[in-house]
Amino acid sequence: MEELNQRIEKLKKLLKDATHIACLTGAGMSTESGVPDFRSSTGIYKTLCSEEVFDIDNFNSHPEEFYKIMAPIYAAMLDAEPNEGHKALARIEQEYKKDICIATQNIDALHQRAGSRNVQEVHGSMMSLTCKTCGATLPYSAFDKQLRAGELLRHNMAGNQCHGVMKPDIVFYGEGLPMEVFQTAENAFMSADLVMVLGTSLAVYPAAELPRLRKNGSKLVIINRTETPLDYEADLLFHENIGEVLREV
Ligand code: OAD
Repeated sequence: MEELNQRIEKLKKLLKDATHIACLTGAGMSTESGVPDFRSSTGIYKTLCSEEVFDIDNFNSHPEEFYKIMAPIYAAMLDAEPNEGHKALARIEQEYKKDICIATQNIDALHQRAGSRNVQEVHGSMMSLTCKTCGATLPYSAFDKQLRAGELLRHNMAGNQCHGVMKPDIVFYGEGLPMEVFQTAENAFMSADLVMVLGTSLAVYPAAELPRLRKNGSKLVIINRTETPLDYEADLLFHENIGEVLREV
């Protein structure tokens, strides 16, 4: 691999030349904000729980377990601030007037808080929850204390009587992805002249399929600490931290 500063110069040029940019981001995007990823040695699946915790059948049969296990992760997400990487992507859109679509697997809303406007949350969001009994949707702020305490969330906690279990509006394994959101992301990846993959192991489908939809001639940049299955197709590859690279561009 070339020296970091040479690769950063190449990235600057690719960004300057690009008109339509599509990004796929994953948990590695938010580790520099203090939110753990899933599959690294310090990730959720190595230190906290197995993947089954995110299975919809498990949630439906033991929602109290989900909230108990997820309490420290929710707390980390609720306290997190956008990092250099989130801010750089927002600046590329706002200051350099690039058409940029961010398809994110993250549920922490940090891209939006950094100022990115076209964010497609393909795995949903933790910012709202829906009652499994009556279908009412409420913001997380109605449950902030209980989420941090790892309590089972019921609809009556916000002062009404339904008593149904609240389910976070995230995509569990066994559930479909939000169709319109995913289609918008697909269209962005098919029309982009620059595709960027940031902080994702590309282990989970169909999100991992998005960078493969890019058209002939579009450039692929991957910024991920560890190897991904798509590294061999990348025009530019960084195994450095996202913040370290993006702060320079
Ligand atoms: P992973 O934990 O699988 O991958 C995160 C990747 O980011 C790893 O390959 C890390 O090496 C890399 N990484 C971590 N910090 C980084 C940094 N600061 N700079 C650069 N790279 C960094 O997370 P995802 O790919 O997002 O789905 O996982 C995909 C899905 O699996 C999640 O959305 C979640 C999970 O099961 C559901 O819950 C449905």
